[in-house]
Amino acid sequence: MSNKLVAPSLLAADFANLQRDIELVNNSEADWFHIDIMDGVFVPNISFGMPVLKAITKHAKKFIDVHLMIVDPDRYIKEFADLGSHMLTVHYEACNHLHRSLQSIKQHGMQAGVALNPHTNVELLRDCIKDIDMVCLMSVNPGFGGQHFIERTYEKVKQLKALIKEEGAETKIEIDGGVTNKNAEELVTMGADVLVAGSYVFKANDPTQTISELRKMINK
Ligand code: DX5
Ligand code: ZN
Repeated sequence: MSNKLVAPSLLAADFANLQRDIELVNNSEADWFHIDIMDGVFVPNISFGMPVLKAITKHAKKFIDVHLMIVDPDRYIKEFADLGSHMLTVHYEACNHLHRSLQSIKQHGMQAGVALNPHTNVELLRDCIKDIDMVCLMSVNPGFGGQHFIERTYEKVKQLKALIKEEGAETKIEIDGGVTNKNAEELVTMGADVLVAGSYVFKANDPTQTISELRKMINK
């Protein structure tokens, strides 16, 4: 069985010491960098944009998982590819022509992800699941770090895992929002492959150790 992955979200990093926090992730047992891009329209918050991502990819030595919380993401697919994104995740709720967006992401040499808000049913992805490299299940309402995990997520992971199997797809499942040592094991038991963790990692006294413990916990 393949490894379960930990993806620290830089949204919870210290932006005044971003290089330090990137090196921390580089030198930790983390698998990916999770990068949250928010436009203040799709979500009620603005995070950071291209110049900051450019600075991040200059130092980051691991897989770059970019989560776009923006309307009409097709406008920027090429730019995110050029900036060094490996996975580009768009929101189901932000795409009128999701199938076309997925093809475009792949044509630009990236893996294609789709994120679902907590209210969006996983069944809506059945007709394009084979075109999706990863589904990101939001376990909080997107827009902010540090929120409480929505318990209904366990059921959604189970449903999505079954759907992926039924359709013969190889799609990974990522969980984003409120992930801690309290829910990590249950999430991977239900079928999650990648856990994003922002505040749980960066607000810890020892983020490196926290990453290491979380990774061990989900790969027993
Ligand atoms: C929320 C973002 C998350 C966020 C997670 O909109 O998509 O990636 O950084 O942060 P925590 O782990 O603090 O909930
Ligand atoms: Zn995210």
